[in-house]
Amino acid sequence: MDQTSLRLFENPTFSDIYAKGRPTYENKIAQHIVGKIRSDLKGKKHELMVEVACGSGQATNVLAPFFLNVLASDISESQIAQAKTLCQFDHINYQVGSAEKIDAKDASADLLVVAEAMHWFQIDSFFSEAQRVLKPDGCLAVIGYDVPKITPKTNAGLQRQLTSSFRYHMEKTINNNTSDKLVQIFREIKDNYPQTFEGIPTKQKSKEIFHQIYDNWELKDITDVMNSMMLQKNYAITKGHGILPRDTKDDCANVIDVFVSDVSEMLKESGISPECVISYEAEFEMTVITASDFFLENTNL
Ligand SMILES: C[S@@+](CC[C@H](N)C(=O)[O-])C[C@H]1O[C@@H](n2cnc3c(N)ncnc32)[C@H](O)[C@@H]1O
Repeated sequence: MDQTSLRLFENPTFSDIYAKGRPTYENKIAQHIVGKIRSDLKGKKHELMVEVACGSGQATNVLAPFFLNVLASDISESQIAQAKTLCQFDHINYQVGSAEKIDAKDASADLLVVAEAMHWFQIDSFFSEAQRVLKPDGCLAVIGYDVPKITPKTNAGLQRQLTSSFRYHMEKTINNNTSDKLVQIFREIKDNYPQTFEGIPTKQKSKEIFHQIYDNWELKDITDVMNSMMLQKNYAITKGHGILPRDTKDDCANVIDVFVSDVSEMLKESGISPECVISYEAEFEMTVITASDFFLENTNL
């Protein structure tokens, strides 16, 4: 399927919800990635990081301190506008742009990053661009994650139940979603994601799993993540310059309310009053793939 320029974030409300709900990446992930760049720095910073599909800057702000210059782009104007308002460093240059046509010079980037977005790309074009923009000793880093495990602090025994309910409601939304086209897109993404990771065309890659824990969440933080993963349900999706119509048959409109009432039931059954303030731990499993000899090995891309 042609996935060029799939745009889910044309609406500013989208980008607000996204920025509120999505995890950023811990410093140890940034250090791990930067450690994979092979150029000898002699105590200086790396020259250039390029990030594609940067969203509202979740990875950008964490990685930026290791570089003299950062070029971060996203296909969506409203994501870039949001990223600019959340920008923490003067040396980040945010631009609207696609992963399939990167606005950087040949052999200029020490690091090319894509976080939680490679599944949306037209992958061959992206890899050709990766080969073009990376320095010979530069590094491609791909980050991805799934839904988090959620544990109420007062009752760790509820982790499995609560996490399944979270997942169930997410999947129900996606499966019952609106246009068949969208369901098809999600199925393809889900089925192809492991292959996409495995398919990065270099032997010099490593895959590490980091467990990133948010220690003190409230129910609202959980529903914010849910909301950010359900953007597709609430708004139209556009592909290239065309807009796919929203379908009004959506029977998942109150899915977050149903999830919250499920959680209340679980807590009640365990003798915990849903009214009392409960803190939760959310654990994201972050997969980080780094490909260090990307340029050297792929002269035929
Ligand atoms: C799930 S978000 C990831 C955002 C951020 N990197 C993060 O880690 O949270 C996916 C992003 O990919 C962008 N996107 C989708 N297709 C793209 C493409 N072909 N080129 C560039 N950005 C794209 C979307 O606009 C969106 O901001």
